[in-house]
Amino acid sequence: MVIWARSSGHLKAKYGPWAIVTGASSGIGREYAFELARNGLNVVLVARRRQVLNALAEVLCNLAKVEARVVAVDLSTSDAVSEIALRTFDLDIGLLVNNAGAAQYGSFLRDSFQFHAQVLNVNVVTPIALARYIGGRLCARRRGGIIFTSSTAAALIPYFATYASSKSCISNFAHLIGFEMRPFGVDVLCVEPGFVETEMGLLMVRDIDIRRLSHGVRPVSATRVAQEALGKLGVASILTPGWFPRMANAIVRLLPVDVRLRLFGGQIRKVMSAELRDELVPAE
Ligand SMILES: NC(=O)c1ccc[n+]([C@@H]2O[C@H](COP(=O)([O-])OP(=O)(O)OC[C@H]3O[C@@H](n4cnc5c(N)ncnc54)[C@H](OP(=O)(O)O)[C@@H]3O)[C@@H](O)[C@H]2O)c1
Repeated sequence: MVIWARSSGHLKAKYGPWAIVTGASSGIGREYAFELARNGLNVVLVARRRQVLNALAEVLCNLAKVEARVVAVDLSTSDAVSEIALRTFDLDIGLLVNNAGAAQYGSFLRDSFQFHAQVLNVNVVTPIALARYIGGRLCARRRGGIIFTSSTAAALIPYFATYASSKSCISNFAHLIGFEMRPFGVDVLCVEPGFVETEMGLLMVRDIDIRRLSHGVRPVSATRVAQEALGKLGVASILTPGWFPRMANAIVRLLPVDVRLRLFGGQIRKVMSAELRDELVPAE
């Protein structure tokens, strides 16, 4: 539930006056937009669904009395960042929330290379390109923040080959540029959520019922992810929201890679839909 009482103003002072949120049309990104507006930051809302973004912008302007600008763009395309730059060059951006993500799961061979390349563009190439563009401005003004959205799948979960690899890459990148940018007053946070009940999360549960895994995956709300992440920005460099996923993620990373692959590979095969299992046969 969104409570429209203004908070202390800490986020606005440190990361305002404007924030860019990618993937703001649903799920975790929408919650980031609400939470930032509630804290008095103006927001640039980025995703493909223009009408959804326009409706959200109207709600934020009316309820939180902040400004909102919509940039409807496909983040898998090579001109996405120049389009965002063109539409935001006049704004004093203090925070970049790289949140948009594209899912891939099941047989790696089922999908075309073009599909895998699009997943990599949305999850890796464009977030890095945006960090390159905004990061320079943040370092020059000696204040700001960047949030990257990874996943617990970064710990190498089988049958999520391209998705999990994209998330490991972005986690490592977040840690490395966080180290470089800290002396310039720029806080970088890598968020590795477990299962979150959003459009993407529910799509995956339809095909791979991860709630039936023996170690018990419990969903965390998108609101909690956004609130915990904004609370930890500048305090920590990595976060898995929710105590249970946080503990599970920490334990999984202690296991050797081949143990993780055998353990999760076997379990995920068991809870896959029959269609996905059939597709695991190598394609010609
Ligand atoms: N849900 C989970 O269980 C879970 C777990 C770990 C990590 N994550 C990560 O959390 C982030 C947010 O996902 P979510 O769970 O909130 O899913 P979601 O509700 O499906 O939101 C995904 C967002 O990304 C945007 N997006 C996807 N492809 C895009 C493209 N090509 N161009 C522009 N925008 C695009 C979508 O907007 P449009 O469709 O309007 O373009 C949407 O706003 C992702 O990075 C995801 O990998 C999710």
